Amino acid sequence: MKLHARIASHFLVIVNGAYLIHSQTISDPASLVNNFIGTTNGGHVFPGATLPHGMIKVGMDTDSPGNHAGYDADPVFNVTGFSQLHDDGTGGSIPLSNFKIFPFLECSTFEKCPTSIASRKILRNILPNGFPDDAASPGYFATNLSNAIRVELTSTRRTALHRYTFPAGTAAPRLLVDITDDGQMSSTDPEMTIDPTTARVVGGASFAGSFGPGRYNAFTCVDFKAEGYTLGAPTEYGVWLSNFPVRGSTNLLQTYYGFVSQMGALLTFSPAPAGGTTSILVRVGVSFISSAQACANAEEEIPDFDFEGVHAANRAQWNDVLSRIQVDSAGVDSTTVTLFYSSLYRTHISPADYTGENPKWNSTEPYFDSLYCNWDTYRTLYPLMSLHDPVTFSRIVRDGDPILGEFFVKFQQQAQALNVSSTDLYNALLADAEIQSPNWNLQGRQANLWKQLGYIPQDMFDAGGANTKQVSRTLEHSFNDFAISQVAKALGKTADAKKYLKRAGNFFNVWNPNITVPGSPNIVGMMQPRFANGTFNFTDPRHCSVHDPAMATCFLNAADRDGFYEGSPLVYVPQDTAKLIELQGGVESFITRLDFLFSQDYFDVTDEPSQQIPFMYHYANRPGLSTQRSRQVIAQSFNTSTNGLPGNDGAMGSYVAWYLLGMYPLPATNQVLLSSPYFPQVSFFNPLLNVTTTIVAKGFSGNPPDGTGGNVFVKSVTVDGKTYKSNCYLDWDVFTSGALIELTLSTDITNTCGAGTVALPPSISTGGYS
Ligand SMILES: *[C@@H]1O[C@H](CO)[C@@H](O)[C@H](O)[C@H]1NC(C)=O
Ligand SMILES: *[C@@H]1O[C@H](CO)[C@@H](O)[C@H](O)[C@H]1NC(C)=O
Ligand SMILES: *[C@@H]1O[C@H](CO)[C@@H](O)[C@H](O)[C@H]1NC(C)=O
Ligand SMILES: *[C@@H]1O[C@H](CO)[C@@H](O)[C@H](O)[C@H]1NC(C)=O
Ligand SMILES: *[C@@H]1O[C@H](CO)[C@@H](O)[C@H](O)[C@H]1NC(C)=O
Ligand SMILES: *[C@@H]1O[C@H](CO)[C@@H](O)[C@H](O)[C@H]1NC(C)=O
Ligand SMILES: *[C@@H]1O[C@H](CO)[C@@H](O)[C@H](O)[C@H]1NC(C)=O
Ligand SMILES: *[C@@H]1O[C@H](CO)[C@@H](O)[C@H](O)[C@H]1NC(C)=O
Ligand SMILES: *[C@@H]1O[C@H](CO)[C@@H](O)[C@H](O)[C@H]1NC(C)=O
Repeated sequence: MKLHARIASHFLVIVNGAYLIHSQTISDPASLVNNFIGTTNGGHVFPGATLPHGMIKVGMDTDSPGNHAGYDADPVFNVTGFSQLHDDGTGGSIPLSNFKIFPFLECSTFEKCPTSIASRKILRNILPNGFPDDAASPGYFATNLSNAIRVELTSTRRTALHRYTFPAGTAAPRLLVDITDDGQMSSTDPEMTIDPTTARVVGGASFAGSFGPGRYNAFTCVDFKAEGYTLGAPTEYGVWLSNFPVRGSTNLLQTYYGFVSQMGALLTFSPAPAGGTTSILVRVGVSFISSAQACANAEEEIPDFDFEGVHAANRAQWNDVLSRIQVDSAGVDSTTVTLFYSSLYRTHISPADYTGENPKWNSTEPYFDSLYCNWDTYRTLYPLMSLHDPVTFSRIVRDGDPILGEFFVKFQQQAQALNVSSTDLYNALLADAEIQSPNWNLQGRQANLWKQLGYIPQDMFDAGGANTKQVSRTLEHSFNDFAISQVAKALGKTADAKKYLKRAGNFFNVWNPNITVPGSPNIVGMMQPRFANGTFNFTDPRHCSVHDPAMATCFLNAADRDGFYEGSPLVYVPQDTAKLIELQGGVESFITRLDFLFSQDYFDVTDEPSQQIPFMYHYANRPGLSTQRSRQVIAQSFNTSTNGLPGNDGAMGSYVAWYLLGMYPLPATNQVLLSSPYFPQVSFFNPLLNVTTTIVAKGFSGNPPDGTGGNVFVKSVTVDGKTYKSNCYLDWDVFTSGALIELTLSTDITNTCGAGTVALPPSISTGGYS
C-alpha cells in the first residue's frame, strides 16, 4: 500500500484582521488519506473509488468472510471481481457487491474459461513487505493481480470506470460481467443481453438488502473501449452459466435451462495490434430504475472514457470537501495528520446520493440511501457535517428525530433556502412523537405506551414489533423528545417545547436506585427494565458488557428479552447529566463510576452509545480527566494500520475526527464540548455561511503518545480576544460568526471549566440548553 503525502509550503494568513498566524494550508488533503485503515479485522472499510457520498463505490471484492465492503487487506484472500456499489463499515449481510467485472489472462478456449466465482478467483501480487500490491487514494483504486493484470478504478456519481491492463503478449484478453452475485448470492429474476457488435452488456436482477426487510432491483449497462487502438466488435461473446460459457448466445433466455445461481456475460477482444500491453476501459453505469437509465447515466457522466479526467474531477471534489477543515501539522506526528484526514474522508462515504434513482418517485427531491442506522450517526456524523458540509446535510436530512433536530437547531435561518420546509420537518417530528406507527419496530415508535407511561414497559405486547430493547428505547425516545423540544423552542412554540422537555426527562423513569454491580457495592443505581405496573424487573448490570456471565451480544435480535441494545445498563448518556450526577450521589461518586467504566472495561469503544463517555468528566468540572481519557481512547484503539479500527467503521470516522479536533458534539443543541486539539491550530470553513472558525492551541508542544499527561489541558479560553464564559464548551455562535478561539494550555490535569454554573456544560435540570 502506497501513500504519498504533500503539504503546501508555509504562508501567512490573516485571521479576523487582527492576528498574524504562521500556518500551513493543505491544498491537497486527498494526498493525506489512507484508504486502507480498517480494511481487515472487522472494520469493513471500503477502500475503493467513490465521490463524496457517491452512489457508485467501485472496488475489489475478495473471498474474505469479512468482505462486507468487498475488500480485505489480508493477502491470503482471493479476488473474485471488481463490483460497483458497496457500503462502508457495516455489519449485517454482505451488501451491494453487484455487477462484478473480472479479467481473464488466458483460457485454453472460450468455453473453458472458469467463470464461476470459486473457479475464477485469483490472488493478488504480494509485495516484499507482505502487503498486497494494492494502492488507493480518494477517487482511485489500483491493484496488480498475481497473473500480472493491472486493474485501476475511478468513478462518477452513478458510473464506474475500470481500466484493465493485460501484460504484453496477451493473445485473447477476456472480460467477464457478473449479473447475479451481490456478495450474498441473493439474486432472483436476472435479465441480460449482449450486443454482439458493440459489446454492450445490459442487465439486472432483484437482490436482498443487507439489514432489515425488503429487496431492491439493480440494473447495469457495461461498455468497452480500448486505449490506443479501436477495440472493434468482440471476437467471441456469450452468456456464462456457472462454469459454462455458451459461445454466441446473446441473452439468458437462449440458455436458461434451469436454476443456476451464477450467470453473466463473457467477451473476448482483440489485443493491441502493435504488441505491448493491452488496456481496455470498462464503463459501468448503474441504476435502480432500469438498464436504459443505467446506460443514460453512463453516457451522460462519462461520455469519452477519459480515465485521467474522471479521476482528476473526482479527486477535486474530495479536496473541496476535505480542505474545509484545515489542521496545522507543525510539531504533530504525520500519522496523526493521516488519521485525521482519513477519518474525515470516511465520514463522506455513506450515506450515498441516489437522487433520481428511487423507483417509487419521479422527483428531483434529494434521495440518499444506504444509510447507517441513525442510532449510529446522530451523535457525531451529522454534527460534524454541521461544521463544514451543511448543504449535503440539508439534502440528507429526512428522518431521525435527533438528526432533524441537529439540522434545525443549527440551520433554522438557512432551512428555507436549502429547500427544507420547517413545517414539514416539525410535522414529521410530531408524527413520530404522537402517532404509533403500525410497524413501530421498523419506523416510528411504540408511542401509545410511551405517552401513557413515560417509559416502554417490558411486559406489554403491541402488534407491529418485537417487544425487546425496552430500556434502550426508553432512553432513545427521551432523547428524541429532547430534540423535538429544541426544535419547538427554536420555532417559538413554547407550550410544545415545555411538553417535550418534560418527556425528555422520561430517561430517569427506568432508573432503579438500588441495583449494584456484583462485587462493586459502591456503584449504585442502574437503568433497568420496568413493568407497566411500575415495579422493576432485573437485568444484570454486567449484561452486554465483556463481563456478561451470559456472554450476550446484545445485537439486534428479537429473542433478547433483557431490555438492552448494544450497550450495558452501565452505559448511557443523558441530556440531563446534572440529574444523573445527583442520582449517582454527587460529583465524587460520578467520577468514581466513570473511572470504574474504564478500569473495568465497561466502556465499549466499538459501539456508538459509549462515544460521549470519555468526555463526561466535563460535567463534574474535571475537563482535564476528559482530555486524558479521550486521548487514551485514541492511543489505545485507533491508528493508521489496516487493523486500526476496533470494530465496524460505522460512525467511527466522525468520532475520531471530533476527538482529534479536541471537541465532542451535543447533537440537536447549540453546544459542543471542548478539549484541546491534537494540532496547534485547526480551522473550519463553512461554505453555507461563508465563514472560517479557527481554534488556536497556544503553547502547543505535541501530543503524549499514550494519551496520558502532557501539555494538553485547557486552562483558559478566549473568543475574539475576550475571556470566554467556559473552558469546557463552545456555543454554536462562535462557528457562525467565524470567531478566533484561543486556548491556553497547561500540564495541569486539575484545570476546571471555570467559575459559576454557566461554566459547566448545560443540563436540563440546571436551566437547559440555550
Ligand atoms: C486463494 O487461491 C489460491 C490459489 O488458487 C489458493 O491456494 C488459496 O487457498 C486461496 N485462498 C483462499 C483464502 O481461499
Ligand atoms: C502495479 O504494477 C505497475 C506496473 O508494474 C506499477 O507501476 C504499480 O505501482 C503496481 N502497483 C499498483 C497497485 O498499481
Ligand atoms: C416515472 O416516469 C416514467 C416515465 O414517464 C414512468 O414510466 C414511470 O412509471 C414513472 N414512475 C413513477 C413511480 O411514477
Ligand atoms: C432548491 O430547489 C430548487 C427547485 O427545485 C432548486 O433549483 C435549488 O437548486 C434547490 N436548492 C438547493 C440548495 O438544493
Ligand atoms: C430501593 O430501596 C429502598 C430502601 O429499601 C426502597 O424503599 C425502594 O422502594 C427501593 N426502590 C426500588 C425501585 O426498588
Ligand atoms: C407487576 O407486573 C409483573 C410482570 O407483569 C408481575 O410479575 C408483578 O407481580 C406485578 N407486581 C404487582 C405489584 O402488581
Ligand atoms: C424479566 O427479565 C427476565 C430476564 O431478562 C426475562 O426472562 C423475563 O421474561 C422478564 N419478565 C417479564 C415479565 O418480562
Ligand atoms: C491499531 O488499532 C487496532 C484496533 O484498535 C489494535 O488492535 C492494534 O493493536 C493497533 N496497532 C497499533 C500498532 O497500535
Ligand atoms: C465570502 O467571504 C469572503 C471574505 O470573507 C468574500 O471575499 C467573499 O465574497 C464571500 N463570498 C460570498 C459568496 O459571499
